[in-house]
Amino acid sequence: MKEFIVDLTKEAGSVLMDHFRQDQRLISLRSTAKDAATKYDRLIDQFIIEKIRATYPEHSLLTEESGYHAANPDWLWIVDSLDGTGNFANQNPFFSVCIALVYKGELTLGAIYAPAIDEFYLAERGKGAYLNQQRILVSNIGELQKSYLFYCEGGDKNRGRTGTILNKVYPKVIDIRKLGSAGIETAWVAAGRGEAYFTTKIEPWDIAPGVLLVLEAGGQVTDFTGKPWQQERGDFLFSNKKMHSTILELLHEA
Ligand code: IPD
Ligand code: CA
Ligand code: CA
Repeated sequence: MKEFIVDLTKEAGSVLMDHFRQDQRLISLRSTAKDAATKYDRLIDQFIIEKIRATYPEHSLLTEESGYHAANPDWLWIVDSLDGTGNFANQNPFFSVCIALVYKGELTLGAIYAPAIDEFYLAERGKGAYLNQQRILVSNIGELQKSYLFYCEGGDKNRGRTGTILNKVYPKVIDIRKLGSAGIETAWVAAGRGEAYFTTKIEPWDIAPGVLLVLEAGGQVTDFTGKPWQQERGDFLFSNKKMHSTILELLHEA
């Protein structure tokens, strides 16, 4: 199964690359570029679903583009075929393919592939997190004033609420980055490129492989009240563990 998820995520990413920066028209559309580019989300979604069905016809699926396909509930594939559609449309290389496998309710494998920056992330429960086959660990920074944070708003964007959170957090840290792909943001916490990533109303397909990746890299993932990640839409904090309670305190009331 590990080999399968690796091959599948890489193949999906390489199909995306066949289309990346090919459609100049998307840039001129700008405000509607994300909608126009979702044809690529759907194309890759179908590609991934067909491959999973051909190999594991009895498994259940949850994909951003096609919803829930119920089969054997013990096995569930969670798929975001193109995470960072807006970036893809704007010819920005920060986009990824995100695939996770859940067995009996537990995240078992997670893969995130950002083909345009040549970064393939893999996490296997109990066996660590890897970037291009090299073991990765979260950062060791324990002070807010030395921290870089990532953030994004999930669905149902509430910029007022995001503004409130940023007002609390931004003055206290070195800087904040918004990359436009939740998959890459979670992966970068796992790789120690920042101390934490927080997100509001995010969907399971955006972050499922990232949850396993951050945990396997030695980090922590909870909702804003400190409860472990659940496979449903919510507000979540991913961190290097050392910074978790400090940042959670800032997010808790927001
Ligand atoms: C989006 C990205 C973005 C996040 C949005 C997601 P999509 O995924 O992960 O960073 O802010 O909430 O929907 O739509 O490009 O797959
Ligand atoms: Ca997404
Ligand atoms: Ca998507």
